[in-house]
Amino acid sequence: MHLHSGEQHVHAPVTPMEFRPDMRLRFLGLWLGQPTVIAAPIPSSDRLARAMASQVDTTSAGRIVELGGGTGVITAALLDRGIDPNRLVVVEANPELHCWLQTQFPGVCILCGNAFRLRGLLRKNGLWESGTACTVVSGLPVLPQSRAMKHRLLGDCFDLLGPQGTFVQFTYGPTAPIGPELLAARSLQTRRVDFVWRNFPPASVWCVMRHRLQQAA
Ligand SMILES: C[S@@+](CC[C@H](N)C(=O)[O-])C[C@H]1O[C@@H](n2cnc3c(N)ncnc32)[C@H](O)[C@@H]1O
Repeated sequence: MHLHSGEQHVHAPVTPMEFRPDMRLRFLGLWLGQPTVIAAPIPSSDRLARAMASQVDTTSAGRIVELGGGTGVITAALLDRGIDPNRLVVVEANPELHCWLQTQFPGVCILCGNAFRLRGLLRKNGLWESGTACTVVSGLPVLPQSRAMKHRLLGDCFDLLGPQGTFVQFTYGPTAPIGPELLAARSLQTRRVDFVWRNFPPASVWCVMRHRLQQAA
């Protein structure tokens, strides 16, 4: 249950994943079936989820979009930061995880679909409005994707984000999610804002934003 009044809502603490052994086991099973799509054998740790959620500026207006919601640890961390569930849209491709997320977060808009086709998916659901989102938080497996896929993902996300908007992505290990060439092509910059050892695998948290000079123009 989510109790809230404006942004100061109180989110009933979501049960930590440690107490949901069945779902963790199921996640492992899904990973064994589709290792490149699920990307990790166990869900993100609470530490990583909090590190990702901490990058959202809760004073900014606009929608927050989470890509690759999985078991919902990051969704829970976002809600625990006091974000109004009505501002949150979560996209998950796996139908079983989508169903799980819907049962866990009844007040949040959870879409089942391909986040690498974000524009079409949001349009189909009447949720596409250029420049209106403040943050995109992504747990998608971005590193193994082709340049074209990353290019389209960034295009969709930065069309959706307002001028000060941020794309937050974690990667396993130290590698940046987007290479310098692609960043330059879109006048974007990135920086690693955190490294979380207490995750399996250990993960870097990256923020991608428009180049400062472009923002000032
Ligand atoms: C590394 S997991 C992270 C999940 C979540 N943060 C957690 O810890 O439970 C990646 C998630 O992205 C989802 N995913 C992969 N490709 C996707 C796509 N094209 N569109 C939407 N979701 C996708 C997977 O199904 C998986 O749930």
